[in-house]
Amino acid sequence: MTTKELLEKYLSFYKERGHKQIPNVSLVPEGDSTLLFVNSGMFPLVPYLTGESHPLGSRLVNVQRALRLEDVEEIGDAVHTLAFHMIGNWSLNDYFKQEQLPWVYEFLIDVLGLDPAKMFPTVFVGDEFAPKDTESIELIKGIFAKRGIDAKEDEKIFACGRDKNWWQRGDAVGELGGPDSEIHYYIGDEPRGEKNLIDNEDQFLELGNSVFMQYKKTENGWEPLAQKNVDFGGGMERMAMIEQGKQDIFETDTFWPIIEKIVEITGLNYRHSPETTRAMRIIADHMRASTLLAMDGVMPSNKDQGYLLRRILRRMIRSGRKLGITENISVALVGVVINTISWLYPELVTKQAQIEQIFAGEEEKFRKTLENGSREVERVLQKVDINSVEALATAAFTAYQSLGYPLEIFLEDLRDKKLSVNIKDVEATFNNIQKEHQEKSRAGAEQKFKGGLADQSEEVVKYHTTTHLLQRALKTVVGDHVRQLGSNITGERLRFDFPNSTKMTEEQIAQVENIVNEKISEKLPVKFVVLPQAEAKAKGALFIPTETYPEDVKVYFVGDTIENAYSKELCGGPHVENTSQLRPIKIYKQENIGDGKLRIYAKFN
Ligand code: ALA
Repeated sequence: MTTKELLEKYLSFYKERGHKQIPNVSLVPEGDSTLLFVNSGMFPLVPYLTGESHPLGSRLVNVQRALRLEDVEEIGDAVHTLAFHMIGNWSLNDYFKQEQLPWVYEFLIDVLGLDPAKMFPTVFVGDEFAPKDTESIELIKGIFAKRGIDAKEDEKIFACGRDKNWWQRGDAVGELGGPDSEIHYYIGDEPRGEKNLIDNEDQFLELGNSVFMQYKKTENGWEPLAQKNVDFGGGMERMAMIEQGKQDIFETDTFWPIIEKIVEITGLNYRHSPETTRAMRIIADHMRASTLLAMDGVMPSNKDQGYLLRRILRRMIRSGRKLGITENISVALVGVVINTISWLYPELVTKQAQIEQIFAGEEEKFRKTLENGSREVERVLQKVDINSVEALATAAFTAYQSLGYPLEIFLEDLRDKKLSVNIKDVEATFNNIQKEHQEKSRAGAEQKFKGGLADQSEEVVKYHTTTHLLQRALKTVVGDHVRQLGSNITGERLRFDFPNSTKMTEEQIAQVENIVNEKISEKLPVKFVVLPQAEAKAKGALFIPTETYPEDVKVYFVGDTIENAYSKELCGGPHVENTSQLRPIKIYKQENIGDGKLRIYAKFN
């Protein structure tokens, strides 16, 4: 059956048993800053699990999109996906184990036709806060006995500790949790799957989990809740994989068309080599997750959800390069991804063009960084001791600073080289170097050269960044002799002095305004690096000739990397993070102030 049919069957199964369907909400949690992404179906239900009454009653069912960041490194194997769908049913102090356990097996065995011989349940073994779940063991034995299977403990049913059979959403005091009972499905090659689950975990796939949500976290442990809830979550795509008789989730109907398209683009067979399969899975998975994130309004950025989106788009592009893809692929794939899932998200169809545009822009920018960066990174790596964490972290930092080469891509490069160093150590050392660096540059910034700023209000900061763009544009239009001789900025306008014995023509003014406004509309990032003064000047960064600068200087640049930046200047900052925060300007006044100097004034329109 298709994944769509599977979902329909699940929803009707529980609706027939008195459940009401609740909505599939955005991946970006609303009103919860403790979590970056919705990671399970129970997410919107927290208040109702602790006693608030739900408007739809005490039996609920749904399908919820979810994203688990902790799985990002696993993507590329046959069963993990970053974004997935959790099918869930809940009892809010209504039914409990006696109903939940028989129902879930009835659905899997009788409705989906999965093989009970291949199912291996686990339950909680007990500890100081909650007893061993013997009730579930007895119920599960009964369920299997009805199907002619003698479910013995330690052969068929396994009682495990808190690390496996206790579920809680987070770790804060007040979080809800409880013992759970998971269903693992044998996916190895032996016909009957009589393998020990505990020793062969990688040959089993977890299909779902019934959490008996009846405890609350306290300072010292766990205390019972007033109500006994059931929180079941099952992997929709995983169930589809088993039902469709596949050993690879990417061969199911919601993924396969994406793989086929990648096969078409690359001209490579999906099973060409393990590396090919892995790269294709990463592309398919990350495209799907990115599309769902974009649907939920996430835009690539350097923060929070936007950063994850940026990271996975980049990882996808990098995987594509391994398959020889040098053209933008996101645009070719968004439509295919939407086709595979628009039955669940009809609104995606109307968002397609917009999503393609966002991805194409991001892809183009990153492709340039990769093209310029990879060669340089290779060169740097040849010069350092590849067995030294410190040397690799320093190389990563240099690549990041001067080329905008992202750390995680650098780490992937290292992973591919299969070096002996621990990649996590390189990451930690990089973070230390970066922290030190930031402290140093903050101290530097406090020194002087505030560049004539009245204060550091938001508007002043905006005018300050605009002044950098203006200086660059003046050099282009008026001539290379332009340099900053004075600057004064208030919350209302900027003022800039430069050598020019005549006034600017109207045409020159219009040209300068146009260039600055165009740069603003290009939404360019504004970043800085700290460099030795001589190196900064050698890279073409502008500076004030009358100013004395410290040995190490901060260079603010507008653009992706210092190499391809539109503007770069020695400057203490602060600046906006992106030119999209600025508004178009108008040069409204100019005056000769003697000594062959021209003073111009500009403000936001
Ligand atoms: N909330 C439980 C889980 O996510 C069902 O596994």
